[in-house]
Amino acid sequence: MRAYDCIAKKRDGEELTEEEIRYLISSYVSGKIPDYQMAAFLMAAYFQGMTDRETAVMTQAVAHSGDMVDLSGIQGVKADKHSTGGVGDKTTMIVAPIVAACGVKVAKMSGRGLGHTGGTIDKLEAIPGFRTTLSKVEFADVVNRTGLSIVGQSGNLAPADKKMYALRDVTATVDSIPLIAVSIMGKKLAAGNDSILLDVKTGSGAFMKTLDASVSLAKCMVAIGEAAGKRTAALITNMDVPLGNYIGNALEVKEAVQVLKDRGPADLKQVCLHLAAGMLELSGKGSMEECLELAREALKSGAAFERFLAMVEAQGGDTACILDPDRLPAAPFRHEIKAEKEGYLTHIDTEACGIASMLLGAGRETKESVLDYGAGIILKKKPGDWVKAGDVLAVLLASGEELFPDAEAKFRSALKLSPQRPEAEKLIYGKVSRDGVELF
Ligand code: URA
Repeated sequence: MRAYDCIAKKRDGEELTEEEIRYLISSYVSGKIPDYQMAAFLMAAYFQGMTDRETAVMTQAVAHSGDMVDLSGIQGVKADKHSTGGVGDKTTMIVAPIVAACGVKVAKMSGRGLGHTGGTIDKLEAIPGFRTTLSKVEFADVVNRTGLSIVGQSGNLAPADKKMYALRDVTATVDSIPLIAVSIMGKKLAAGNDSILLDVKTGSGAFMKTLDASVSLAKCMVAIGEAAGKRTAALITNMDVPLGNYIGNALEVKEAVQVLKDRGPADLKQVCLHLAAGMLELSGKGSMEECLELAREALKSGAAFERFLAMVEAQGGDTACILDPDRLPAAPFRHEIKAEKEGYLTHIDTEACGIASMLLGAGRETKESVLDYGAGIILKKKPGDWVKAGDVLAVLLASGEELFPDAEAKFRSALKLSPQRPEAEKLIYGKVSRDGVELF
């Protein structure tokens, strides 16, 4: 078999065989196929697309390119969740404890942030002492004892994806629905859970900017998961404006704790309740309505908060910071952004807001960037709010005042004001499952 023939076949719009796909992935990982040939194949796939069968086979090949996590040491049903990424997305820290409190185990591997998007692992590491690297035995032990554990991805999880993603990143081939689906689901299948709930974000801060594209990606990933024998569904949720009011690592832990105490912003709470209910439904806990009720009760009773506290303690984190989040790292300098004129705030561009937060030190410009856990943005107004000239729209936090001018300019570029009240945007647009697409 030759890589050249596989590239030519995809270039001409033909379907590759299972054998050809497995050959491409395994030879690329072993170094037999060079980057330039894989780049040519990825570009051909970008333009020609991939059939459902090709996508399913490639996902399995990516999943099996490294360690397949064995969660058999953890008792009971294990549910996984994946967000396609966004700004202010602290849902995993809220949803996982809710699901655990309802009797479904969460043994979760999460990622780090890059560019305008944040990552759960960075947020948890803002809790002093919290360990995101555990041995396999420790990981299973924490889940068995507390119902949940959140750790970073192990070194050899889906190495084919790591190599292909780095190549896609520099060859303008990230933005392809089948390639994104293969990349995400390859890692999810390797992570070894029984069910997978996907949070496909849509809007200005998401990979997928339109509802149509988000539904297509969700359909593709649900088909892959179900074909692999995993119960899989997706919720399409809003990432046109940042989720909640806090952006930044320690700030997001703080806001997650607020919601776990049954307080916090309504938008964040609603999305989290639906994601938790989606995971519980896939795990056989009842209908979506019944699962929503279970999730609400887990917040109200304090059971979800207790699970989070137990996980933080089990992973070495300072629980005093969870009991009193004002003890979490906080940047020493604050800068208020005030409205220059009156009007309704109609939009906050999520990507620009994420970049402003990165400029303050809360995000990574490159993989090597060092994070400032205490930096970030507190939003004081959200779309739909009326603002008067001089009202505080947001507070920026940073380790030095010299970081404020660029971040302020970027943040201001994200804002739109208008004399007209904007229509309220949906938080959850729909659900995609093996039963089809349901738009709300
Ligand atoms: N997230 C991933 O893990 N892979 C992609 O290709 C895009 C987003």
